[in-house]
Amino acid sequence: MDRESRSNRYFRNAVERHWDPGEIDLEQDVENLLAYIDRREGFDDQAWARTLNGIAKFGAGEDAVTEDLAPLATVLEDIDDQLFLTTQLYEEAKHADFFDRYWREVIWTVEDELGWERSNPRDDRWFNEPYVELFDRNRRAQYRLLEDDTPENRATAYCHYHLTVEGILAQTGYYGMQTSYGGEFEDLPHLPGLVEGFTKIRSDEGRHVGFGMNQLKTLIREENVDPKLIEETVNELLPLVQGITEDERYQPDDPDERLGLEDGELAAYAVDKHTDRMQQITDAAADIPDVDELVRLEGDD
Ligand SMILES: [Fe+2]
Ligand SMILES: [Fe+2]
Repeated sequence: MDRESRSNRYFRNAVERHWDPGEIDLEQDVENLLAYIDRREGFDDQAWARTLNGIAKFGAGEDAVTEDLAPLATVLEDIDDQLFLTTQLYEEAKHADFFDRYWREVIWTVEDELGWERSNPRDDRWFNEPYVELFDRNRRAQYRLLEDDTPENRATAYCHYHLTVEGILAQTGYYGMQTSYGGEFEDLPHLPGLVEGFTKIRSDEGRHVGFGMNQLKTLIREENVDPKLIEETVNELLPLVQGITEDERYQPDDPDERLGLEDGELAAYAVDKHTDRMQQITDAAADIPDVDELVRLEGDD
């Protein structure tokens, strides 16, 4: 092993920062949701669906990335990269576990308490077209590695998975949800268990994105991958990401009004992050932030 390599250090960082999704306290979320629903006049099916929408999207997203990471583990040959990838596979599985638990212990408990029908976290209504398209494309980009493992196809796979799905969609979405349910908006419930889970997940995602960035930088430097390929691949996916993050904040009964962050704030956050990262990947002289910085939560201070 090369203890000084980024992959090895990221691996160690993941081991040292281990957390258990089963240990996050969710009882307060149930209480707060019940009180919130009780307080709001005319709280109906649609209002409840809006609350569930983002949670359903993230839960299914974590399932999808857990299932679609294995091809990369199959083709990587470096031992330190392999070490890191085992932690990423395990962490994606933990993220999926957290959402499954949240639905069972919070959503269904609230619905049972109110005598409502239990909602299905995999119902088609949660997943709009851009969502399905983005995850389909991600899956194809990963599985292509099993047929045709070229530097360009690896770069494309990292662009889909690490830069776009994790780096832009997940980190932006989690930031939005963390802000929305952190207790600072009168119109939204305060969900401390959900926010704690998001916080841990975002921190893991920071490390995953850093690994992908570093792999891309190496592919440019050592395999002559054209940085344009990276830019173009991500740019093609951006409209899909936007279609997802905007969808979850729409009020179906009043499309002009949104809860939580102002219009455009999420998009601005995503673009800022992405611009910095592209520079760090494509500029040979620029450094990818150290792992401690990647797992620290940007945008919180
Ligand atoms: Fe994840
Ligand atoms: Fe991840």
